[in-house]
Amino acid sequence: MPLLDTFGRLHDNLRISVTDRCNIRCFYCMPEHDVRFVPRAEILHFEEVERFVRIAVQLGVKKLRITGGEPLVRKDLPVLVRKLSGIEGIQDIALTTNGVLLADQAQALYDAGLQRINVHLDTLDRERFKQITRRDDFDRVMAGIEACLRIGYKTIKINAVAVKDLVEPDIVPLARFGREHGIEIRYIEFMPLDAQGLWLRDKVLLADRMLEMLSTEICPLEPIPDPDPRAPATEYRFTDGIGTVGFIASVSKPFCLNCNRIRLTADGKLRYCLFAVDETDVKTALRDGSTDEEIIQIIRETVRQKWIGHEINTAKFVPPPRPMYAIGG
Ligand code: 5AD
Ligand code: SF4
Repeated sequence: MPLLDTFGRLHDNLRISVTDRCNIRCFYCMPEHDVRFVPRAEILHFEEVERFVRIAVQLGVKKLRITGGEPLVRKDLPVLVRKLSGIEGIQDIALTTNGVLLADQAQALYDAGLQRINVHLDTLDRERFKQITRRDDFDRVMAGIEACLRIGYKTIKINAVAVKDLVEPDIVPLARFGREHGIEIRYIEFMPLDAQGLWLRDKVLLADRMLEMLSTEICPLEPIPDPDPRAPATEYRFTDGIGTVGFIASVSKPFCLNCNRIRLTADGKLRYCLFAVDETDVKTALRDGSTDEEIIQIIRETVRQKWIGHEINTAKFVPPPRPMYAIGG
C-alpha cells in the first residue's frame, strides 16, 4: 500500500536534512548569534539514513532531496549520496545547498550520483549578500555555481527568498543571470520560519509582483504547458524562448493540496509538513533494534496524521517550534 494520507495525497517524496549546522547566517532562517545546534550524538548516521530510505522506498518513496542546515558541512556527504543513489527504486536525488562549499565538492557529489542541485542565492550584489547572510562568501557561492555548470549537472536551479523592501533590485538581475546560463531562478516567498520571529505578512514580496517586474523589465512570461501538478513552484517561460523562472508562492498561493512530501530531520524526527507543530520520533526506533515493520508503522502513522495544509493565511497560524535550519527546507 502506498503512503496515502487521509486527504488522498500520495507521498513519494522524502526530504532528508543531514545537519542543522550552517556556515552562514541568513537572517530569514538563523539567529545572528548563539545558535543552538543539535549535539552530534543526536544526528542520524549515514547507515541509519540509508536504512530509513530503504524502508521508505518499500512504501513508494521515489524522490529524495538532501537539505540542511547546510548539507555540505556534513563530513563525507558524497558517501551518503552514493549509498542513496544505489538504492533500487530511487529515481531522483537532488540537493539544496547555500553553495559556499560547493566548488570543492561538486565533482565528488556528481560522481556519487547527484543529478540535480539547487543553490540558494538571493542576490548578485556582494554587499546585499553580506547583509542577508551576515557572511562575506558571495565569491565562493559564484564559484560553486560555475563548477556545477562546468561539470554538467542535469539541472541547476537557484533559490532566492523574496523579502519585500530588500530584494526588489535583485529580482531582474537574477533572472537575467539565469537566462544567460540555463539556470532556473525560483523565487520563494518569505515564510514564517525564521528563528527570530521577524516574519510579517507585509515583509513578503509576492509572486504576482515579481512576475510583473520580470514581464515588464525583461520580456513577457507565460505559464509552461503541462506543468507537474505536484511541483510546488509555478513555472513560467519567457516568451522569447530564453529561459524559465519559478515561483514558490507559499504565502499568496499555498500548494498544500498537492503536497507529496515528508521530511526527516537531522536528529531523526519525521515531519508531515514544513509547518507541522507535531513530529514523530524515528531515531529511537532506528537505534533500539526495532524491525522494518515497526518503522513502516511509524511512517504510515505520521502520514495519516497529516493535516490539510498550513494556516499561514489565518489567525490560527502557529509557527513551528523549529526554525528553517532545524527542519530542512
Ligand atoms: N522563507 C522562505 N524560504 C526560506 N529558506 C530559508 N528560510 C526561508 C524562509 N524563512 C529557503 C532557502 C533555502 C531553502 C532550503 O529554504 O532559500 O534554499
Ligand atoms: Fe544556512 Fe540555508 Fe538557513 Fe541560510 S537559509 S542560514 S544557508 S540553513
